[in-house]
Amino acid sequence: MTHPLVSTEVDDFTMAYVDTGGDKPVLLLVHGFPLDHSMWKQQLGGLVDNCRIIVPDLRGFGVSTRGAKPLSMRTHADDLAALLDTLAVSTPVTFCGLSMGGYIGWQFLAHHYARVRNIILCDTRAANDDEVTARARQLMANKVLTDGSQLAADGMIPKLFADATYTEQPDVVESTREVILNTQPSVIGETQIELSQRIDARSLLTDFDLPALLICGEQDQISRASEMKDIATSLPKGEFQEVPGAGHMAPLEDPDTVNEMIREFVQSS
Ligand code: MLT
Repeated sequence: MTHPLVSTEVDDFTMAYVDTGGDKPVLLLVHGFPLDHSMWKQQLGGLVDNCRIIVPDLRGFGVSTRGAKPLSMRTHADDLAALLDTLAVSTPVTFCGLSMGGYIGWQFLAHHYARVRNIILCDTRAANDDEVTARARQLMANKVLTDGSQLAADGMIPKLFADATYTEQPDVVESTREVILNTQPSVIGETQIELSQRIDARSLLTDFDLPALLICGEQDQISRASEMKDIATSLPKGEFQEVPGAGHMAPLEDPDTVNEMIREFVQSS
């Protein structure tokens, strides 16, 4: 990456982020779980001429410190608003989150609506967990503390990508595995509990009356394209686009297609 990772004090922790700067529309990229800012490296490279890109490591993830607050979706949303304050970004931004980044997006819209110009939700859900999923998260949260982050990598890597990505882009798979292995087990465990307790955002969707682009990998096993189409229909200004041949990590698996979708949306809405 040509733009360096820098850091600043935000509330009770040190947040690492990349800010490409310039007088362009701001695109805030929010990573999934248990990942860091590097999952957006292809968007940093491909969209820097179109946008001022701000891409943080959320508290506890990447090289950001943990602080003392709960690792809830609400805390992350408030941290992002505080980062924008620190960077003196007062104009509304394009919020773009993948999966957990999208769950944080619902909280950002609920509590910082005036800061959002439009929203891009990649491979995410509005519904909260059913009982089976919540229970599986709680089991993983306990086990990761004794077995380490390897347990999360082994459990998640087989679900994150489309079939072809494992054979055709093994470097993408391996770099994602590395990021998971570098995430603290305690952060993975706590976040699993927070994810299992997150809000059901479906009843809020009709309130979010701003342009919204829903992007989903055709083979996403975690956030299904059919569910994302329903979210797009429920949002007053929602639009759905599918990424053929990609899985849950569509922006990493097919960056050219996703970058074109983001570019066109930011320019036209
Ligand atoms: C993510 O990519 O952020 C996770 O898959 C979210 C989740 O576990 O629901």
